[in-house]
Amino acid sequence: MTHKIILDTDPGIDDAMAIFFAFQCPDIEVLGLTTVYGNVPVSMSAQNALTLCELADQDIPVTKGVGMPWVGPESGYAHFVHGDDGFGNIDFPPSNRQLDPRSAAQFIVDTARENPGDVTLVAIGPLGNLALALRLEPDLPKLVKGVAIMGGAAFVPGNVTPVAEANIWNDAHAAEIVFAADWDLTMFGLDVTNAVPFTPDFLDDLAERNEKLGGFVKESSQFYVDFYSQGREDRVCFFHDAMPLAYLVDPSLFELTTGHVKVATDPLNRGQTSVAPIGSTMSPIWLEASKINVATKVDHAKLSKLYLDTYAL
Ligand code: BDR
Ligand code: CA
Repeated sequence: MTHKIILDTDPGIDDAMAIFFAFQCPDIEVLGLTTVYGNVPVSMSAQNALTLCELADQDIPVTKGVGMPWVGPESGYAHFVHGDDGFGNIDFPPSNRQLDPRSAAQFIVDTARENPGDVTLVAIGPLGNLALALRLEPDLPKLVKGVAIMGGAAFVPGNVTPVAEANIWNDAHAAEIVFAADWDLTMFGLDVTNAVPFTPDFLDDLAERNEKLGGFVKESSQFYVDFYSQGREDRVCFFHDAMPLAYLVDPSLFELTTGHVKVATDPLNRGQTSVAPIGSTMSPIWLEASKINVATKVDHAKLSKLYLDTYAL
C-alpha cells in the first residue's frame, strides 16, 4: 500500500536523512514538504527543504510555515547541533527553486481536502503548522488518515530539559492543540529514538548504498556526530526523524502502547509529554485527556537494515 504523506519538517540533519528515506521508499508518496522553524529559522528551513528536493530530483511543493511559537518570543535555534546552515557547515550550494506561495498550514488543509481520508501527516519538527491547520479547518481530523510525529518523551528524560524533548519544548502550546485533536496520532519520541545510536560505520554504509543522498547525509552528519559524541567513548548520532516514516513502511519494527496524554505548558515543565497508559489510572483529569499511541520499543537491527536497503533502491 502506498502512503500519501505531507512531511512537516525543520531541516536539520536528521530531517534531511528522513526526507531522503521518504523519497526513496516505494511505499511512500510525498505530496509536499511543509517547513517550520526549529533547528533553524523558518526561512532557512524552507530553503534547505528546496535544496534537498533538488538534490533528490523531487519536483514537489515546498511551503514555508510558522516562524514563531504559538505563545511567547522567537525561539533559540539548534545551530550547535545542526550547524550554522542546518547541514553541518558543509557549504552546500542552495537551490534556486521557488517555494509554493501558500502557507504550510493552508497547503496541509488544501491537500487534505483534495485527498479526503488518504493523507497521513508526518511531523518531524515543532507542531505550529499542524496546530494552525487545525484552526483553519476544524474538520481536519476527519479529512486526514492519521498523524505520526517525532517528538516527546513519554517514559524517558527529555533532551532540552529533564522532562521535555526539543520539538515539543519548542512549541508546547501548539503541541497541546495537536495532541488534543480527535485524530489517530502516533508519537515516536525519545523513548525509541534515543535507544538507537548510529555509528560512523552506518554512515559509511549509507554513502556506499547511495552515493548522492547517502553521501550528503554522511558529510553533513560529521558535525552532528561531534555534537552527540561529547562526553562519550564512542562516536554516534541519533536519526530521530526517520522513525515515524519507518513505522509507515513496517509497523512490526515497533512496540506501541496506548495512553492518555497531556502536554505541559507551564514554564517549569514546558513541553513535557506525560502519558498514562490505558488502565493505569482512574483519575478523571487523565481519563478526559485524549488517547494517543506511543512507540516504546524498536528493533535496532531491522530498522538499520530498512534504512540501508531503502537508500540502496
Ligand atoms: C528533534 O529535534 C531536532 O533537533 C531533530 O531534528 C528532531 O526532530 C529531536 O529531539
Ligand atoms: Ca526535525
